[in-house]
Amino acid sequence: MLIDKLDQYIEDNYYSFAMPGHKRNKNILNKALPYDRDITEIRGFDNLNDPKTIFKDMEDKLKEIYKSFDFIISTNGSTCGILSSIRTLTRKNKNILVQRNSHKSVYNAIEIFNLDADFIDLLIDCDIAYDIDYDDLENKLKNKDYSAIVLTSPSYEGFMLNLKRIRKISKNTKIILDMAHGSHLILDKLYDELDFDIAITSFHKNLSALTPAGGVIINNKSIDKKEVRRNMAIFQTSSPSYIICQSIDDMIDNFQKFYMLYNSLNENLDDLYNIKLSNLKFINNKNKDKSKILISCKNTNINGNDFSNFLYKKKIEVEMVSYSYILLLSSIFNQKKDFNKLKQTIINMDKNLSYKKDSFDFSYKIPKRALSINDALRRKKKIVDFNNADKKISGSFIYAYPPGIPLIVPGEIFDIDIISNIKNLLEQSVQLNIEKGGFIILD
Ligand SMILES: Cc1ncc(COP(=O)(O)O)c(C=O)c1O
Repeated sequence: MLIDKLDQYIEDNYYSFAMPGHKRNKNILNKALPYDRDITEIRGFDNLNDPKTIFKDMEDKLKEIYKSFDFIISTNGSTCGILSSIRTLTRKNKNILVQRNSHKSVYNAIEIFNLDADFIDLLIDCDIAYDIDYDDLENKLKNKDYSAIVLTSPSYEGFMLNLKRIRKISKNTKIILDMAHGSHLILDKLYDELDFDIAITSFHKNLSALTPAGGVIINNKSIDKKEVRRNMAIFQTSSPSYIICQSIDDMIDNFQKFYMLYNSLNENLDDLYNIKLSNLKFINNKNKDKSKILISCKNTNINGNDFSNFLYKKKIEVEMVSYSYILLLSSIFNQKKDFNKLKQTIINMDKNLSYKKDSFDFSYKIPKRALSINDALRRKKKIVDFNNADKKISGSFIYAYPPGIPLIVPGEIFDIDIISNIKNLLEQSVQLNIEKGGFIILD
């Protein structure tokens, strides 16, 4: 085990004339930081970018845990795994089909690998994307030959796709699954390794390893694992953090205990979801990972910011705030007392609220495309006033945060509906990354 080996190394008290530069010297440096456990690929220790001993052993254990054909550890989060997986699978065919509300790293992959991306439409309710449009997916697959489909399940908010249905529709097209928010699903029957060809997950989001620990789960023997790893070594630092790796080691060592903790988490969650609310509302359904607690304050006299400010005053930290809901992330490491505090605070708050009709509903449509993202980003750009952008080609991404859906991406064409939707969102104080003077368009 990596941790045991390091314990021994520390005890042996070597004089360090190797990296890192801090030399484990705590005379000056802050004693609270883990300098003594921070090493690099010194004698007897392994290289994560070409694992042969300790890291190979860790990857073999993760392979067993995730019941997969192969596993590659990432010390650069899911971001690195997403870039590597997409690059590997799109070497021969640049056409890719992508869920519209994909993470920025997917859009970065489209840009840097110069991919020709089409987007799968979303279904929206309560201002959140809760699923994809399966008919849209099927139609797009009929009309083009894609190297891969990039999907996200569970989403940031916890919504799960019907991956079995997608498997049937997609036939032989490979599925790259962004499972950044689902490393813990292996503790549940919600995880099925047969649902994807390659998945990328972040241990730091829902399990115990330190930020940004993650990994790539390969489940199709035909995927060139060496090429995925070569790409990981391209996008990942050449000095992967041993501190992060030890936290992965610790996670692996404790994994069996996680199943019990997951049962307790579910009991606590059931208890929470059972409380009767008059104004606030839990957003939940059977296709949702319930550890992502979504509470809507739509049609009440407060907005999401008021809601989260109130919780913060009561010392409750939330994950994300939107104008009409908040997201709280729970994990197997939350304790009963955390849930009691949350429960009581929400009950008290709910009592003091009243009904107020909310006329705003988030909506969006995918604009028509003139150019690929990469082509558009390389063109000369200028800013036009909002009112003069109709039929112009966007030179930038405009995101609505939350729910994290791009309203337009570089190369897509503004139309009157999109412009008026953006104006509406601005009126609702939805966070949009827009220049002050107007929209960035191609010159
Ligand atoms: C859906 C999704 N995918 C991928 C990532 C990237 O994960 P990481 O921070 O581990 O690189 C994130 C980050 O929040 C995310 O929300």
